[in-house]
Amino acid sequence: MSPTAATETGTAAPTRTATPRRFLMCPPRHFDVTYSINPWMHPGKPVDTDLALAQWTQLTELYRKLGHTVEVIEPVPGLPDMVFAANGATVVDGRVFGARFRHVERTAEGPAYLAWFVAQGYTDVYWPEHINEGEGDYLVVGRKVLAGTGFRTDPRAHAEAQEFFGLPVIGLTLVNPEFYHLDTALAVLSDDEVMYYPEAFTPGSQAVLRELFPDAIRATAEDAAVFGLNALSDGRHVLLPDAAVHLKQELSARGFLPIGVELTELLKAGGSVKCCTLELRPAR
Ligand code: ARG
Repeated sequence: MSPTAATETGTAAPTRTATPRRFLMCPPRHFDVTYSINPWMHPGKPVDTDLALAQWTQLTELYRKLGHTVEVIEPVPGLPDMVFAANGATVVDGRVFGARFRHVERTAEGPAYLAWFVAQGYTDVYWPEHINEGEGDYLVVGRKVLAGTGFRTDPRAHAEAQEFFGLPVIGLTLVNPEFYHLDTALAVLSDDEVMYYPEAFTPGSQAVLRELFPDAIRATAEDAAVFGLNALSDGRHVLLPDAAVHLKQELSARGFLPIGVELTELLKAGGSVKCCTLELRPAR
């Protein structure tokens, strides 16, 4: 079989291979918007918890259909943002770097997620000294970690994660409050590819991203505004908010299979596909 597939433009895009993943997710049974810690959250507006749960359930079914494993953590009443499992920890090589939240409204989520890991038998579980919001701000690309700061994660937590994982951690500074976590402005597509919205970063961080990923897909303001970068790739399938029309085209042109997902109810809290998904990377 040919290793490349012809695209509409006639250029050859690489054939992509999915690798099975293990995810931790939290059903939004207690989901609500009762406080505002990012510009997407409007506590006065109604939230349909049943719809949020239905949309979340569809995402879990999609993952399972694609051959991935979904583990579930019980939601805790009074922690409406706990559905955003990506923020609960960062797991690389079976080692768990716990989360310590910026806002008091989410503080209790850190120990709740860590307790899950301990109960599951994980032994290398670390309670961090500095504020960090898990995979919201740490994104693993191959054997490197990209780390966001500017709104939530303390830059001192970047050094702390580097020491814990023994992997290079590259700091990136966010500037637009609508894109307050790294995973709202950048998505990992493969071991050496990302897509991102340049305007969400400082000029210096934009230059770092150009240096590391000269061929990256650049998102438009429209892509970013529909949370199109809050995407999850298994190396072949890229699950992302359905409204991200331009990103879906760009992904197809590069041989990925974009899959649009509706998580509109969770967007009322400023979250989507990636925010709901914490990847459990096994020991090597
Ligand atoms: N309401 C949550 C917050 O502002 C949303 C978190 C979204 N999670 C993410 N990984 N970006 O903290």
